[in-house]
Amino acid sequence: MPDIRTARELFPATRNVAYFNTAAVGLASTALDDAYRAYLDEWLDQGLDLVRGDAAGEVARTAVARLLGADREDVALIATVSNAAGLVAAQFGPAEPGDNIIIGEREYSSNHFPWRMLEKKGYEIHAVPFRNGGIDPELVAERIDDQTRLLAFSSVQSATGHRSRTADLGDLAHSVGALVFVDGTQQVGALPVPAEELAEIDVLSFADHKFLCNAGRGVGYCWFSKAVQEWFTPMNAGWKAGRSPYQSFYGPGMDLSPTASRFDSPISWLAAIGDQAALAVIEEFGADAIYARNRELEAILRTGLVESGWEPLDLPEENRSSIVAVPLPDGESAPLLAHLKEQGIVAAVRDGNLRLSLHFYNDEDDIERLLAALASPPHSGRR
Ligand SMILES: Cc1ncc(COP(=O)(O)O)c(C=O)c1O
Repeated sequence: MPDIRTARELFPATRNVAYFNTAAVGLASTALDDAYRAYLDEWLDQGLDLVRGDAAGEVARTAVARLLGADREDVALIATVSNAAGLVAAQFGPAEPGDNIIIGEREYSSNHFPWRMLEKKGYEIHAVPFRNGGIDPELVAERIDDQTRLLAFSSVQSATGHRSRTADLGDLAHSVGALVFVDGTQQVGALPVPAEELAEIDVLSFADHKFLCNAGRGVGYCWFSKAVQEWFTPMNAGWKAGRSPYQSFYGPGMDLSPTASRFDSPISWLAAIGDQAALAVIEEFGADAIYARNRELEAILRTGLVESGWEPLDLPEENRSSIVAVPLPDGESAPLLAHLKEQGIVAAVRDGNLRLSLHFYNDEDDIERLLAALASPPHSGRR
């Protein structure tokens, strides 16, 4: 496997900016560019090869399953987290009095609004307060009861980088018979998904445009446990959900796939070509090497921030991810982001935090550049 430190050579933007914004969108590699261009050229010259686009989606499904250490037959192609959550919400019938759903209080809306819709069916939605910027098993334990039907949370919170204790949360929910929906968008590709976590999840949904490095959008992934596959109705089934999609265009019967692909939605062929290429880059460098490098960079960044007086959200080791958040006073975010941009640094502000996200194409020089810029902030004298 190539040295992980050479990975940034494949991502041209790293030559122009110090990029700390993968939690919004991942950078494009030259491999992604080549794949898109070749497909577009062919589209222009001879017409779009949809079979190849669809086949790319299958290759991507397999690659994603490998990342999860899961069976590809349990992975569906569902483009967005909001769609996956909506599919799960649609499985719920009218509530009995007291039936409830537990979410975290500052969950990303794609994993929040679909559950709110269930209020119309009589479900109570309990938003549990965050601790250290994320959902905490102890606070969930205070709220959960034997009428909790679903627990939904992000395995890594996008605004704070708080990594959930997914296995403990899942175990808690399962002890009362509730379903566990996890949004893994800020985890998959950046950090491992341990088998003990997957064992306590029913539905794991994640998008491709961040740590999987294809921001074209139009393909996303959803892993379903065998048990929920049996239980759930594929509400969005069309030709793509068929046992043989190309034989399923006009019925007349409905023969759905026996695997999780019966939950597939038709995908963007272009994005599938991109995902195939982007996931091949991840495999080329090796997922484990990427996770280790991300942890290393995160520790360097965290230490540097503390030393320079930009105190990041202090998270216990087990709750750390490849996102570091620095809480900002009101009014500071816009000038700070502008200042960083002037210095060629791309970051984000989310929910009152300067959000700095790292991926394997970052390096120590990026961090030094950031710390140097933070040493001369726009509001002089604040730190
Ligand atoms: C935690 C998290 N979940 C989900 C998403 C994306 O949701 P959707 O796929 O519904 O656009 C994002 C960001 O785009 C996110 O940060």
